[in-house]
Amino acid sequence: MEIFLDTASIEDVVFWESFIDGVTTNPSLIAKSGAEDYEVLVKEICQLVRGPVSLEVLSEKYETMLTEGRRIAKINSNICVKLPCTFDGLRVCKELSLEGISTNMTLCFSSAQALLAAKCGATYVSPFVGRLEDVGHDGIHLLEEVLDLYNQQGYETRVLAASIRSLQHVIQAAMLGVDAITLPPLILRQCFEHPLTWKGLEIFANDLKKRK
Ligand code: E4P
Repeated sequence: MEIFLDTASIEDVVFWESFIDGVTTNPSLIAKSGAEDYEVLVKEICQLVRGPVSLEVLSEKYETMLTEGRRIAKINSNICVKLPCTFDGLRVCKELSLEGISTNMTLCFSSAQALLAAKCGATYVSPFVGRLEDVGHDGIHLLEEVLDLYNQQGYETRVLAASIRSLQHVIQAAMLGVDAITLPPLILRQCFEHPLTWKGLEIFANDLKKRK
């Protein structure tokens, strides 16, 4: 399973570099970074990781989205163009896929959207677990359904669990066999933090002191 960091911060990418295979950004994260020129920022991120760096288009209409997608794909060889699961986004996905450009279909909230993303040749599809749960739906069930559907149909689009809000989400997604997951730095930290680990270290250190 690939682990991506959900961030647009260079500091985060440098700090977590040992654990991550790539990065996902979104317009909100880019805004939070305060970068004056976000394409320069993303290029720098691309050079820090080997794997894919998802960068989302800002256009919403087919023609402008296609032009933007082609342009941002040139920022670096590991750019993955992030497109929304809309009518225009899916059509742009099909076109970019035919041109050999890597794509990540974002804001996926249903298996039907995931089905069309695969039909359009998406490299990744990102079902949003947390945001679905925010409105009372079962985000983990969506992951399960998309994985089953792709398996039944033999689609190669990779399932990227997104909008991950807890350790439980991480484990549930991993146990279902998702191809990739994107984690905010806070959740990645929670993956290794455990009070008993610190407590254990303290006990070992105290025992050693007693021996002296
Ligand atoms: C994924 O690519 C998105 O950037 C991200 O996972 C969204 O997460 P959020 O719903 O916590 O904003």
